[in-house]
Amino acid sequence: MDDAQLLETQRAFDSVAADYDGPRGNNELIQRMRLTMWDAVHSEVPAGARLLDLGCGTGIDAIEFAQRGFHVVATDWSPKMVERTRARIAAAGLQSRATAAHLGVQQLDRLQDEFDGIYSNFGPLNCAPDLRAVSAECARLLRSGGTLVFSVMGRICPWELGHYALRGRFRRAGVRAARGATAVGMNHHTIWTHYYLPREFYRAFAEHFSLQSYRALSLFMPPPYLVDYYRRRRRWCERLGRLDDRLGAMPLLRDMGDHFLIVMRRR
Ligand SMILES: C[S@@+](CC[C@H](N)C(=O)[O-])C[C@H]1O[C@@H](n2cnc3c(N)ncnc32)[C@H](O)[C@@H]1O
Repeated sequence: MDDAQLLETQRAFDSVAADYDGPRGNNELIQRMRLTMWDAVHSEVPAGARLLDLGCGTGIDAIEFAQRGFHVVATDWSPKMVERTRARIAAAGLQSRATAAHLGVQQLDRLQDEFDGIYSNFGPLNCAPDLRAVSAECARLLRSGGTLVFSVMGRICPWELGHYALRGRFRRAGVRAARGATAVGMNHHTIWTHYYLPREFYRAFAEHFSLQSYRALSLFMPPPYLVDYYRRRRRWCERLGRLDDRLGAMPLLRDMGDHFLIVMRRR
């Protein structure tokens, strides 16, 4: 991924920052996955700890954790997203517990603090040009025994395969199979995206981190962009959501889903 691709991705997210708390960035299906991620951070990182958010978007997670007593440094590559996060922090009066910085995951060498936990929600790390460099920087920024909690877009999303294949959009159906950065459209812009299997993703972190767990997010439940389908069949889909909760961490099933949630510990 080169500088031009990083800038294209930045422009794509800038273009949606104003309404990213609406259906595109925070609908019911996203909120459901968010809760699983919040639970993971709460159970893995001690209360009151210092957290770093990679790709914070409009700051929903940063505010949640600041309200619960964590100290959060929220970062994002999109200046417009960072503006939204700053406004959200100010509106909540949480300036003593949360700050926001315009910083891409490829620029973590500019940070000097020490953190107890680092999290990244809904795929910012899929836009990282060099995951091994991110791993080395996370190792530098995290105290020994500190935790990483990341939600990452996976390669095998049965809903997506079926949805696009049934419409004859075979190229779109297969986009997650691409090697290297692939162009994904959003709002007439391009997001340059790497997709990963959980094990592939972990390989980039294995030198400094041990793998604690990983699980599927939205494997049985439709992915967030099929929210209209979900709304038409809410009760049926809620049952599928319960299957995600019960079975999402099982071998094989955990390798699939719209996203996976992975927890790693600094050696
Ligand atoms: C799908 S959004 C998720 C936002 C937020 N974490 C949430 O849960 O709502 C992905 C975010 O990653 C950010 N992003 C994309 N490329 C990035 C990069 N290279 N470094 C840091 N953030 C990046 C985008 O600007 C966007 O805010």
